[in-house]
Amino acid sequence: MGRKKQERFRQNEISENIVQPGKENYLKIKGQWHEHFGNAHPIILEAGCGRGEYTVGLAAVYPDQNYVGADIKGSRIWKGSSIANKEGYKNASFLRTKLQNLTDFFASGELSEIWITFPDPRPKEGEEKLRLTSPRFMDMYRDMLKADGEVHLKTDSILLFEYTLELLQSGEIKEIDELIFTRDLYNDSNLLPLHHGIQTTYEKKFMAEGFKINYLSFRFKK
Ligand SMILES: C[S@@+](CC[C@H](N)C(=O)[O-])C[C@H]1O[C@@H](n2cnc3c(N)ncnc32)[C@H](O)[C@@H]1O
Repeated sequence: MGRKKQERFRQNEISENIVQPGKENYLKIKGQWHEHFGNAHPIILEAGCGRGEYTVGLAAVYPDQNYVGADIKGSRIWKGSSIANKEGYKNASFLRTKLQNLTDFFASGELSEIWITFPDPRPKEGEEKLRLTSPRFMDMYRDMLKADGEVHLKTDSILLFEYTLELLQSGEIKEIDELIFTRDLYNDSNLLPLHHGIQTTYEKKFMAEGFKINYLSFRFKK
């Protein structure tokens, strides 16, 4: 491991806004996020947050909501964590985990919203169950969300987007409400303002390559 990465990992170990293996609260945080943030405000998850642009960006826009960015890569969450520390955002934290294990860290109904930002599209047929919008993940999201909890998906991948839309529109994912979507977010003046100008690292890269950005959201009735 390079020196820079070592130093980032050392900072992650002492940053109060990172929950990760080896820390005292790591296996006790499930159902305790309100205590972690020290308030009763809604808790919103960014799944596969990378550098956490939505976690930090939305925390700045909505100081009365708490944001948790979850990702397996410590060097990526270091970035979001260090910005939150520098800016003094007490309502942004990061969780280092495999997303397959999210229900080990969030109790039923603990979340109000989930943002899935530019997930790996996993295009091969055999990889379908790894897609972050596959039925297995949707079941986990439904469990962790309150009734009427909202899910957002932002992606450059038309394959993943159509796959997700088909699951939602065919009724395979049941009991959903208020589905809205666009295949060209930057030409949709109704939905673009929801994003407050926030763009992720991968989004910038894909837009530079000429990809359109797809976005959808819906609520689980429960
Ligand atoms: C394509 S990147 C997108 C990162 C960020 N949301 C963005 O838009 O810039 C996908 C992210 O998901 C994380 N990721 C993918 N599969 C994961 C899994 N099973 N568990 C935890 N993190 C995962 C990766 O580490 C990576 O940071």
